[in-house]
Amino acid sequence: MNSPLQQTLLNAIRTIPDYPRPGVQFRDITTLLGDARAFRRTVDEMVQPFAGSKVDKIAGIEARGFILGGAIAHQTSSGFVPIRKKGKLPHETVRVAYSLEYGIDEMEMHKDAVKPGERVILVDDLIATGGTAEAAAKLLNQLGAEIVAACFVIDLPDLGGRRKLEALGVPVHTLLSFE
Ligand code: PRP
Ligand code: ADE
Repeated sequence: MNSPLQQTLLNAIRTIPDYPRPGVQFRDITTLLGDARAFRRTVDEMVQPFAGSKVDKIAGIEARGFILGGAIAHQTSSGFVPIRKKGKLPHETVRVAYSLEYGIDEMEMHKDAVKPGERVILVDDLIATGGTAEAAAKLLNQLGAEIVAACFVIDLPDLGGRRKLEALGVPVHTLLSFE
């Protein structure tokens, strides 16, 4: 049973069948981001578990995690650090390979993006297989971050991503699920 907020957000997300590969139901949040009320409510809800906690940095995963992560960094008065696809960051990086629902890639962070012991929240729009978020958590662990939690708008629970992060000891917060 969805809450009224979940129903508002579900209504604001568009599903594109067979994108980018046949068989994938692509959950497109650009419609949610373009809806001022839905975007604000999403960010307000994502920061709620951290009210009153000290957070040093938000780590946003390319590309949609940048949009949500930037807004969350502003709202929590935290810094923002990008986790990017390989070859995009100009300074020294740490790198990790990962597999996707539809392919393989590598991603990177700047070595000096996070200091050991800094409290970091990982942010993306969606967790599917969890390969991307698991790789991001590994990068943050390599840099010695304390990962407070990982936050997503959408969970695709049938693909099991949440369990991968929880196995690394990372608490997971999501706003809604598509079965
Ligand atoms: C999507 C989404 C997550 C990832 C989730 O990004 O924004 O980052 O897939 O999938 P996973 O849990 O199976 O790893 P995508 O790889 O499409 O990259 P983009 O945001 O740069 O388009
Ligand atoms: N990333 C991985 N699977 C996805 C999906 N079904 N919709 C949007 N982004 C995704």
